[in-house]
Amino acid sequence: MDAIFHRTSIRKYQETPVEAEKIETLLRAAMAAPSACNQQPWEFYVVRNKEKIKELSEASPYAGCAKGAPVVFVPCYRKNCQVPMYAEIDLSAAVENLLLEADSLGLGAVWMGIAPQKDRMVDVRKVLDIPGELEPFALVPCGYPAQERTQEDRYEVERVHYVD
Ligand SMILES: Cc1cc2nc3c(=O)[nH]c(=O)nc-3n(C[C@H](O)[C@H](O)[C@H](O)COP(=O)(O)O)c2cc1C
Repeated sequence: MDAIFHRTSIRKYQETPVEAEKIETLLRAAMAAPSACNQQPWEFYVVRNKEKIKELSEASPYAGCAKGAPVVFVPCYRKNCQVPMYAEIDLSAAVENLLLEADSLGLGAVWMGIAPQKDRMVDVRKVLDIPGELEPFALVPCGYPAQERTQEDRYEVERVHYVD
């Protein structure tokens, strides 16, 4: 589990494409996540089209650096799942799994928030023509890193409350 203590958000990428096998491994990692009632509400758009990537990078004021990524994952969730109130939480677990797997494969990625901001969700839906039964959740640009970052130690003992 070294990736947990190594992962950082990577926002600059080499042009080298991400191999199809690695993309599948990332998707497998995402879908291995826990979910409420094991409902697995996720679906994933895997965007490699440069024009679409550029359009996605304009769907949020904080997504500009997605433009340089060779692939952008767009995790979505099904509205009609067993416990819809947990769907976005389930997607969070899936995205974290994807980010950790990316790190362990030597790739870099970053979570860019789309849901629950309605305007961003509308924009992403338009770009990818996402059907009404799915809700776009996030953008996750991914590629071989063109920057080096070191994870900071965020452990704060005063935030821990032991109850023995
Ligand atoms: C829900 C969520 C939304 C985020 N949205 C963005 C975003 O829109 N753009 C961006 O560059 N980074 C985004 N990030 C990444 C955070 O900025 C980053 O995780 C945080 O600064 C900590 O840095 P680290 O990931 O390198 O540890 C988001 C992260 C989360 C969990």
